[in-house]
Amino acid sequence: MPLVEIDSMTLGPYGIGRLDGKAVMVPNAVAGDLVEIAIAGERGTHAIGRIERIVRPSPRRRPAPCPFAPRCGGCDWQQIKYAAQVAFKGELLAGAFRRAFGLELDPRGLVEPAPEEFGYRARTRFKVGAGGTVGFHAAASHALVAVDRCLVAAGNGAAPGALATALGARCAEIETVADGDRTILIASLKRAPQAADRARARAIIARDPSLRGIVLSGGGRREIVGEARLSLAVEPDCAIESDADLFSQINRAQNCKLVAAVMALGGFDARIKLLDLFCGSGNFSLPAAQRGAGVVGVDADALAIAAAAANAVRMGLGAARFIAMKAQETARFLARAGYRPDIVILDPPRAGAAELIEPVARLRPAAIIYVACDVATMVRDLGALAAHRYEIRHVRGFDFFPNTHHLEVVAHVLLT
Ligand SMILES: C[S@@+](CC[C@H](N)C(=O)[O-])C[C@H]1O[C@@H](n2cnc3c(N)ncnc32)[C@H](O)[C@@H]1O
Repeated sequence: MPLVEIDSMTLGPYGIGRLDGKAVMVPNAVAGDLVEIAIAGERGTHAIGRIERIVRPSPRRRPAPCPFAPRCGGCDWQQIKYAAQVAFKGELLAGAFRRAFGLELDPRGLVEPAPEEFGYRARTRFKVGAGGTVGFHAAASHALVAVDRCLVAAGNGAAPGALATALGARCAEIETVADGDRTILIASLKRAPQAADRARARAIIARDPSLRGIVLSGGGRREIVGEARLSLAVEPDCAIESDADLFSQINRAQNCKLVAAVMALGGFDARIKLLDLFCGSGNFSLPAAQRGAGVVGVDADALAIAAAAANAVRMGLGAARFIAMKAQETARFLARAGYRPDIVILDPPRAGAAELIEPVARLRPAAIIYVACDVATMVRDLGALAAHRYEIRHVRGFDFFPNTHHLEVVAHVLLT
C-alpha cells in the first residue's frame, strides 16, 4: 500500500498529497497526516485515494465527535480540530485570492470563527427513506445513512423521525427549523397533502410540546398545521418575521456578524441608494433601510418578497421597494430605466452571479458588496467584475458551517 504525506487541504472533503509526483486527493485526510492509501480512481491530472490506515495522525486531527462520521456525507471536516478548521479556511481563502488576483490577504484572522461548533444549524434537511427512516446521504452517493440525531443541528433532533414514521412513504424530506427552544418541521411530500396527513401532523404536535408547527408541502400545495412564523433577530433593533419554509441563513449567530459587516462596509444612510439583488426576506435590505438608505430589494421568490415588504411596513420603512423578479431581468430593466444605485449587494445561490456581472456593471454602482457561499464562483465573478474596473478592497470569511469545508465570504469591490 502506498504511503502518502498529506500536505494541504481543499475547500472540499479532501486532503492532498503526492505519489510519484502526481497529486492524490484523499477524502477525510488532514494536512499533516501520514496515511497508507489505496487508489480509488484516476482523474488524469490527479488520483483519488482512500485511507487504509493512518500511520501518523496530523496534530490537527481529532476523533470525529459525531458517531455517524465519516459515513454520513453531511460533515466532511468533523475529524479536524475546530481551531484548525478555521485556520485551514483562512489559508484556502487567502490562497484562492492570491492565485486569482495576486492579492496578499493575511490568512490569520481572515475567517471569523463560529461561537458554537455544534448545534448551530437553525435549519437542517433530513432525507426520508423506506419505512420512515431519516438520515443524510452518504458522501458522493444517494445511499441513506440513518441517523437518530445530528450534532450540528439545533432544535428537537427526535422530531423528524416521529413525523417521518407517521407520514410514511409519502414523505421525501423533512427540514427542522429551530426557533428558540421550539422546532418547526417542514415536510416535503410526494403529492399534495391530504386530510390524513394533516390529522397525523396534528397528533404529532399534540404529543410533543417542543413542536410549534408543521408545514406540509407537495403537489404545488402548502398547508400549515399549528404555527410556522419565525422572528429572526438580525440586529438588536431589527427582527425579520417570516414563514419557516422561506430561505433564512442557517447560522443565526454568524448571520448577525455578517449583517453587521455588510452594514459597516456599506456605510448606509439617507444619501445612499441600495439595490439588493438576492434580497430574500430582507436580511440586508431591512437593516440598510433602517439606516435611511433608499432600498430596492429583488428576489425570484415571491413569498420572500411578500415577507420583506410586510416587514418593511411593520417597521415603518414603507419607502423600501421589493420586486419579485429574476435578478438578471431586473438589473437589465433598471439599467434601461436609468436607475443608478450607489451600492449593489449580490448574495446569490451557490452557482454565483455570472449572468449578472454585465448588467450590474452597466448600472455603474460605486461599490458592490458580494456575499458568497462558494469561494470558486465568487472568485470567477469578481474576476469578471475586474474587467469592468471593479477592484477588490476588502475580503472577510465567516464560518457559518463548522465541521464542513463550507464558508461564507463577503467582498467589497469599488469602481476605480
Ligand atoms: C443565498 S440566498 C440570500 C438571501 C438573502 N440575501 C439573505 O441573506 O437571507 C439567495 C436568494 O436568491 C434567490 N434567488 C435565486 N435565484 C434567483 C434569481 N435568478 N433572481 C433573484 N433571486 C434569486 C433565492 O430565492 C434566495 O432568496
